[in-house]
Amino acid sequence: MTTPPGNHAALLARRARVLAPTYRLFYEQPLQIVRAEGVWMYDDSGRRYLAEQPLQLAEELLATLPRELDSVIFTCTGSEANDLAVRISKAVTGGSGFIVTEFAYHGATEVIAGMSPEDGRPLGPGVYTVAAPLGADGAAAFGERVGRCLERMQADGVRLAAMLVDTIFSSDGVVADPRGFLADAVRKVHEAGGLFIADEVQAGFGRLGEAMWGFARHGIVPDLVTMGKPMGNGHPVAAVAGRAGVFAGFAKGGSYFNTYGGNSVSCATALAVLQVIRDENLLENARRSGEHLMRGLRGLAQRHTAIREVRGAGLFIGVELGANAASGRSGAAETRRVVNGLCRRGVLVGSTGRDGNVLKIRSPLTLELQHADLLLEALDQTLQSPE
Ligand SMILES: Cc1ncc(COP(=O)(O)O)c(C=O)c1O
Repeated sequence: MTTPPGNHAALLARRARVLAPTYRLFYEQPLQIVRAEGVWMYDDSGRRYLAEQPLQLAEELLATLPRELDSVIFTCTGSEANDLAVRISKAVTGGSGFIVTEFAYHGATEVIAGMSPEDGRPLGPGVYTVAAPLGADGAAAFGERVGRCLERMQADGVRLAAMLVDTIFSSDGVVADPRGFLADAVRKVHEAGGLFIADEVQAGFGRLGEAMWGFARHGIVPDLVTMGKPMGNGHPVAAVAGRAGVFAGFAKGGSYFNTYGGNSVSCATALAVLQVIRDENLLENARRSGEHLMRGLRGLAQRHTAIREVRGAGLFIGVELGANAASGRSGAAETRRVVNGLCRRGVLVGSTGRDGNVLKIRSPLTLELQHADLLLEALDQTLQSPE
């Protein structure tokens, strides 16, 4: 949708509808700047569309999110988006306590590094951890752990602000199942007066195949959704989506200013990404290729005892490897060997998880079945190879 030039009232109404109340107008009579040259900027003629880019992006993003989430703030990185979500949750709940998973990674700012224990970093003040649901955990286990964590916080006199979770638990070792296991934990967080922040920096934009967002797998509606990484397919653009009411609570304390957040170039990039996801039917491709890959990996697990478990959804897959009894290598050493063996065979994957023994397979969403077969063949060869 574009607004005809000069119709400032319509443009302002669009802006109020989708951008959070943390945004302030600079002038009493807002300008629609559409062109700049030297020291001069021009309004309402020529390249009019550039000024509308952030609105169009906010509208298109919100169309992919649950109806309750009706407002957006743009940032440049996932770390900034999480940092902002943390500030918002403190402001609107009055709490200062946070729950994250034991091996989470959420970003690089001072505050968010304190919520990212992945590399053994010390936790920030008021940050508590719960173990991600791995191993034999049933659907109820995660909720029970969050319940016990809330009791600990209460005993310590810490009021909850939010639980912040990467919805595919990437650095915890990739956890997608049992489907819906987040719901009970989120209910408990809400009962305790906290917000639920879904970090979609890894899982978002269709990677899990069946939906645009990882939280959809759990049948929940987050209070805040942070996104980044795939949003610009390499270009730095990120955002927080939420309810206008929640943002309004935060906006009482002042506006949020971010020089490059929501700039026209970044918004145009993110719009192009959304368009490619739609035009090339990439969700369906992620689902189809992901299922094929997962089936192939489970087939390999029948023949290679090194594979302990295959987890994930769509094109976000974790393959947990065990220690190799014959060679005496630990699970982590075996995983390093396989990562390098795959690299020599032209397949690039990473490793993750608390014990460093999970192959992290996140191929481009354009992966086709024939490419998945190449990956499976390379993994088969690498696992068979003695060195
Ligand atoms: C789950 C998750 N959240 C947040 C971030 C931080 O994003 P950025 O590196 O864009 O600051 C990352 C980065 O890897 C991530 O994996």
